[in-house]
Amino acid sequence: MEMREQWRSRWGFVLAAAGSAVGLGNLWGFAYRSSQGGGLAFLLLYVLVVLLVCLPVLVAEMVLGRTTKSSPFLAPIKIAGSSWTPLGILFTIASIGILSFYAVIMGWTADSFVHSLFIGLPADMEAASGFFNRISTGNSVFVGQIFSLGLTALIVSAGVRAGIERLTRWCMPLLFILLLALTFWSATLPGAWDGYKTFLLNWDPSQLLEKTTIKNAFNQAFFSLSLGIGIMVAYSSYLDGNNQLPKSALRIASFDTAVGLLAGMITFPIVLSYGLQGAISKSTVGALFIALPTGFANLGGLGRVFATLFFGLAFIAAITSSISLLEVPVSSLMDRLGWKREKAVWTSTLVVFLIGIPSAISINFLGTMDAIFNLILMLGGLFIAILLGWIVPKRFDEDLSRSNSEIKVRRYLRFMLRWVSPPAIAIGLYASLTDFFL
Ligand code: TRP
Repeated sequence: MEMREQWRSRWGFVLAAAGSAVGLGNLWGFAYRSSQGGGLAFLLLYVLVVLLVCLPVLVAEMVLGRTTKSSPFLAPIKIAGSSWTPLGILFTIASIGILSFYAVIMGWTADSFVHSLFIGLPADMEAASGFFNRISTGNSVFVGQIFSLGLTALIVSAGVRAGIERLTRWCMPLLFILLLALTFWSATLPGAWDGYKTFLLNWDPSQLLEKTTIKNAFNQAFFSLSLGIGIMVAYSSYLDGNNQLPKSALRIASFDTAVGLLAGMITFPIVLSYGLQGAISKSTVGALFIALPTGFANLGGLGRVFATLFFGLAFIAAITSSISLLEVPVSSLMDRLGWKREKAVWTSTLVVFLIGIPSAISINFLGTMDAIFNLILMLGGLFIAILLGWIVPKRFDEDLSRSNSEIKVRRYLRFMLRWVSPPAIAIGLYASLTDFFL
């Protein structure tokens, strides 16, 4: 076996993990989920889920990767025996499934970027709908999907340091600065305050018990943090023993939540200022591809610059996420079958492409895939909490104490993993399942 690679620096790991977390889920997902009516109740639930449920699971995933130094497929088996094989299988299937439709949305994003840069923006909503129809149907979808997958595969095949770490070290800070600039600009729009009020700040306590709002909060938290399917297992398996995982997890989660909020604060003023509520009240990701370009178009030449920046940056964020999804099957194939990285990359990519064809053809199918895999994320998270909290709690504690995490922190995390995360995730699953089927 080849030597296992390692991250070059501590920040390399944190930025790569943050790169995985920050993606289309923040830029499109946060805006469309919070526009489904939850308002402040959604925001509150989302932040609570991140802090109380997801953070402990995030640390658990990291510990699982670091103590076993194995791929997501083998890590559960190594730590708890072969009866945990199904969890590794779940991780691998889920990563492939998510990447299959994620790449389609990346393709739309790339298309919007190219369009804003070279051709221009649609003049009104009708033109924008026509444009979205064109980029989301027919051959151009495949072009975008193949381009996105190809680029992802190239980076992953370069390896952890030369590919993943090098890319994310530059892109994450850049992304954040651009987002901040766009947020300031958006705040100066005439409808800015109305935008925040309508979508983010409306307070209706009964929404706290609304199934759709609960589902949205859980889905947004899990999806956006890349949680529940072994991404952090894969990335943490390339860590040495010194990293204080709880600190890193907190940094990653804060950054991720901040980016989601900023994206919302960019989107909502645009939507309200240009009367585009109709476009996003349908609440699909696609609607944002109609609303945002129309909004930017109202600004003339400057709008085109902003649109180009926004879509370009969304695509960069997406790439740093898609590479983490591909890393799961790739590292598992290398680990389990002893394949070389290259072979594992191109085989996985081909499978992802084939599974993604129905999503490329039908937006409805894509939506169903999204709903199903959001359920699987929670299921995976539940099993991770049970595994590290109940089956091998000692390993969890030992790993953290070896890297000098304080006993208070360890106790707190273990308590949350045992008593809070599992029942809370069960509630999230229940809300999602009933929302899905009823
Ligand atoms: N978190 C990324 C986003 O917000 C997407 C993503 C990457 C993801 N890896 C994941 C989602 C693993 C779920 C599971 O866009």
